[in-house]
Amino acid sequence: MDYVVALPAAGSGKRMGAGKNKLFLTLANKPILIHTLEVFERDPHCTGIFLAVKQEEREYIQSLLNEYIITKVKGLPNGGKERQHSVHACLKVMEDAEIVLVHDAARPFITHSVIRRLVKTAYEKGAAVAGVRAKDTMKKVKNGIIVETVNRDDLWSIQTPQAFRFELLRQAEEDAERTGFLGTDEAMLVERLGHEIHIVESSYENIKITTKEDLIFGEAIIKHRQL
Ligand code: CTP
Ligand code: MG
Repeated sequence: MDYVVALPAAGSGKRMGAGKNKLFLTLANKPILIHTLEVFERDPHCTGIFLAVKQEEREYIQSLLNEYIITKVKGLPNGGKERQHSVHACLKVMEDAEIVLVHDAARPFITHSVIRRLVKTAYEKGAAVAGVRAKDTMKKVKNGIIVETVNRDDLWSIQTPQAFRFELLRQAEEDAERTGFLGTDEAMLVERLGHEIHIVESSYENIKITTKEDLIFGEAIIKHRQL
């Protein structure tokens, strides 16, 4: 089952504190952005990549795409102020497809096997997100004081990719834009429409490179995979 992917890459990486877009930092001597792009470049079911970029980074990103021979990028729209705006920019320039995946460019360790399960579930049910079971004891805290211990069996950490029937995501995005609703992921926008969203159990390796410790984890994951 084929799909297209929207990859928001127009963040600034404040929590990484590298003084530049964290996606340009390297893991095993290759930019994080390229690690992520290569997963989709090498997936025969991916028919197009739509990458939201910062205007001032477009030229450099274009040079990286050439250097690493990434051929499936079909759109490089300008990203927006928030991640959701960047995803929206991708959808606007996207060709029609049955299934669209949204994936953070900052998650380089996603596998074809999880992607395949997400695409299949989205095709059959409309919407599916990658997630892992919460590992820690989870508590709700207000003003520094525990209010409640939440039953961990019901808690999942939600990742990307998130996969949708194209029309469903487009409708959710348009509705969010019209009403000025800002969500932290695409699933939230679809939840608002009352549509059910299925979880595809993913891997704890599918980390988002966010703070500098994640660079250490990232190098370790690459080493481990090479074993
Ligand atoms: N992103 C984007 N447009 C934005 C903000 C984020 O395209 N306005 C992208 C990032 O490039 C990243 C993904 O969304 O691939 C997930 O965002 P996050 O991990 O928060 O990255 P940053 O926003 O760059 O980092 P920070 O929040 O620490 O500044
Ligand atoms: Mg951010």
